Amino acid sequence: MVAPGKIGMQIVGLPDKAVAESRERVQAALHATGLALPPKRVTVNLAPADLPKEGSHFDLAIALALMAALGAVPADALTGYVVIGELNLDGTIAAVAGALPAAMAANAMDKGLICPADCGPEAAWAGADIDVLAPKSLIAIANHFKGTQVLSRPVPAVRTPAHGLPDLCEIKGQESAKRALEVAAAGGHNLLMAGPPGAGKSMLAARLPSILPPLLPQELLDMSMVHSIAGKLAGGRLSDRRPFRAPHHSASMASLVGGGIKARPGEASLAHHGVLFLDEIAGVLAAGARCAATAAGKW
Ligand SMILES: Nc1ncnc2c1ncn2[C@@H]1O[C@H](COP(=O)(O)OP(=O)(O)OP(=O)(O)O)[C@@H](O)[C@H]1O
Ligand SMILES: [Mg+2]
Repeated sequence: MVAPGKIGMQIVGLPDKAVAESRERVQAALHATGLALPPKRVTVNLAPADLPKEGSHFDLAIALALMAALGAVPADALTGYVVIGELNLDGTIAAVAGALPAAMAANAMDKGLICPADCGPEAAWAGADIDVLAPKSLIAIANHFKGTQVLSRPVPAVRTPAHGLPDLCEIKGQESAKRALEVAAAGGHNLLMAGPPGAGKSMLAARLPSILPPLLPQELLDMSMVHSIAGKLAGGRLSDRRPFRAPHHSASMASLVGGGIKARPGEASLAHHGVLFLDEIAGVLAAGARCAATAAGKW
């Protein structure tokens, strides 16, 4: 709301430090775009007011609301969109985590999504009919709504890993162990391997992904949503490979199971629909245990 009163800009609605600092980023980005805030009192209300807000992804929504108040973009055009994105001081839009789940939620509400250009390929996965705008800067979005330079819909992208997977065919003999791996891969079972050092436990477990079935479309989305929230989708491209997570045996409980005040997925969640490979797990479970064991599985 832009109203007469003491000049300044205030954000209310239980913002955390990152959201409160958005005031500086938004003001600088608008200035760089050639839009000066009027010498009035600007109040940004993040509703519902009793729910704490965190993160930098509110920047773009705040900036667009102010641009609508200043008449730089039509206010009614924005009502059909969910907006996420962080602003740089020069008015360009930086990538944020969670574009895919945001796009799925927007689609479920019959709305479009405005997100940073880098997140566009990821958001476009949410559905063939969702309206995704992925501008590089505030100027690009203003031009789009003015009709001078219309943004095209981003194309869903898949990342092709540079290197091939370690293959089960490289293992000599070990027929019963290979059979166990095949049964686990086909049925989605967990595996615990125990044996003397050098028997090939780590080697066998690392080759489990090479015999897993391809991801189903729904599994690809489920898995990618977890990776999106963790900010692990480089360039907004989804991976069509099942995840293989191999945390070190000294990894903390928090990094394995996730959670925390600002809840983040842990290794167990990041391995969803893939393999969580816990090498030397016996050493963790019983310090000093003589048998070296490897656990792999759960996809
Ligand atoms: N059946 C096999 N076929 C091919 N290479 C093998 C086989 N068994 C062992 N090797 C070789 O031995 C190396 C050691 O195996 P690996 O590290 O998987 O053993 P491990 O059982 O995990 O041992 P540790 O308990 O010490 O961790 C492998 O990297 C591989 O080069
Ligand atoms: Mg080993």
